[in-house]
Amino acid sequence: MSSLKPIYVLNGPNLNLLGQREPEIYGRTTLADIDKLVSDKAGTLGLAVDCRQSNHEGELVTWIQEAREKASGLVLNAAAYTHTSIAIHDALATLDIPVIEVHISNIFKRESFRHHSTVSPVATGVICGLGVTGYELALDAIHRILTTN
Ligand code: DQA
Repeated sequence: MSSLKPIYVLNGPNLNLLGQREPEIYGRTTLADIDKLVSDKAGTLGLAVDCRQSNHEGELVTWIQEAREKASGLVLNAAAYTHTSIAIHDALATLDIPVIEVHISNIFKRESFRHHSTVSPVATGVICGLGVTGYELALDAIHRILTTN
């Protein structure tokens, strides 16, 4: 496992405000807490992670392109871009590594504009509605995929 490239964990717009932003929906956990949770989980699985957040669609696209060469897997919470971004869809379509789409909230219980995802058709799997635990489950899933092939 140690020879594996890192798993990229990418978070999209407004997720830098986790902990302060609509806590009744997203909880009180901050993005720094999530990064720590994810790093600890990765450590138990023998994986390395590279956690990043951006409010800019193009920056997320650039990082997804970078993952083609530099990552073994990708965990992506594209936040609101999930529902709008064809550019992120197209970048993900070029990847040859496991991609797990994560949402903290259950997007299907919410407004109808959140029910459509441009990410899901090009993701290996989707985890939503399980809070920040979803990020840990996504790492578990990637670990299983990488170790059973
Ligand atoms: C989200 C759900 C999206 O609809 C929303 O725009 C977000 C966060 C989630 O993690 O539940 O910013 O991706």
